[in-house]
Amino acid sequence: MPYTIGVPRETADGERLVAMVPEVVARLVKAGATVVVERGAGAEAFYSDAAFEKVGATPGSREDAFGADILVKVRPPSEEEIPLMKQGGAYIGFMAPLDTPELSRSIASRGTTALSMELVPRISRAQKMDALSALSSIAGYRAVLLASTLLPKFFPLLTTAAGTVRPSNVLVLGAGVAGLQAIATARRLGAKVSAYDIRDAVAEEVQSLGASFVELEIESQDSSDSGGYAKALAEEKAKQQVSLLVPFIGKSDVVVTTALIPGRPAPLLISEEAVQAMAEGSVIIDMAASNGGNCALTEPGRTVVKHGVKIVGATDLTSDMSVHASQLYAKTLLAMLQDFTDENGFAPNEEDEVFTGSCVTRGGEVVHERVKSLLN
Ligand code: NAI
Repeated sequence: MPYTIGVPRETADGERLVAMVPEVVARLVKAGATVVVERGAGAEAFYSDAAFEKVGATPGSREDAFGADILVKVRPPSEEEIPLMKQGGAYIGFMAPLDTPELSRSIASRGTTALSMELVPRISRAQKMDALSALSSIAGYRAVLLASTLLPKFFPLLTTAAGTVRPSNVLVLGAGVAGLQAIATARRLGAKVSAYDIRDAVAEEVQSLGASFVELEIESQDSSDSGGYAKALAEEKAKQQVSLLVPFIGKSDVVVTTALIPGRPAPLLISEEAVQAMAEGSVIIDMAASNGGNCALTEPGRTVVKHGVKIVGATDLTSDMSVHASQLYAKTLLAMLQDFTDENGFAPNEEDEVFTGSCVTRGGEVVHERVKSLLN
């Protein structure tokens, strides 16, 4: 029996991605699905309705897309959108379940089986489903390009007849997926790059990209947990970290910050004192802005100038790369759909580790332990 996959237009402020691109739709159609794409869904990512129809997508209204057997989205469905979801259907996409657990409860009330892309376990088999990594990498690249255009200086060393220009110093705070891509991009542009992370284990990766690793004299115990995520630093150590970073930040022309702790506000790494220590004209790109920011002076979604330093509260970096960001995101959804559907539609193996790890709601209830605990 044919089943439907719905792709609505994203309406969240600043969001320009679409959950499916024609290349991926073609594969789903070939596998027997009817893919209902809301008219205009791909416009902001430059995928036209005609391009979707050419590969066999069915154009539809917003209600048609939301009412599909399996709904795929980029941003979590809003409270207004949840009533449009098919009763007892499936959802695959971002849900921000650790930040907004109440939304999961509303989704559960539709009887939806919802898989959160944020909670896909980071095991090797699930790498192709790792949407967070795919998008973080894109954002890391974009952040550095943005910094390079905002900085009134060259990134590379330049020897000209008029004299020699020294390379700019770029400091990357948080050397996870986004940070490593930021390091690689800044290196390609010729900057002198250093990076810091609480996980000492990344020092080698940082160095292999041609950057130096900043070591701070704090006892950091073991800061990675079994899932590969960072644990919160104890409050005292966090304060120590902020003050020890000041001189490193002070001698940087650009600081790109990416430090995040899943399910918690972003850690503060750049104090006002550190901003003051930077030369006027310097640039901070705060990639943690959506989670409160790593810099004390960040204003999410805005660029402000404080003490002569441009501070970008970056929230739309992936949207600025909507073509490739949509393409890679759609591929991670395809990998999920391939694993969790058969010729009749949504049919997950309930024992599957990726399914149990990412499933937030099922049978009218919130079933994910961590999300449940946030609701009690
Ligand atoms: P993230 O986006 O949650 O955090 C970014 C970085 O900030 C992390 O490297 C974290 O250690 C760092 N950070 C947190 N608090 C900090 C603080 N106070 N000071 C300095 N740095 C701080 O992490 P992301 O990028 O999603 O992944 C982190 C790591 O997880 C990766 O580097 C990798 O080792 C692992 N991973 C494993 C995968 C797999 O096995 N399939 C896939 C993706 C990531």
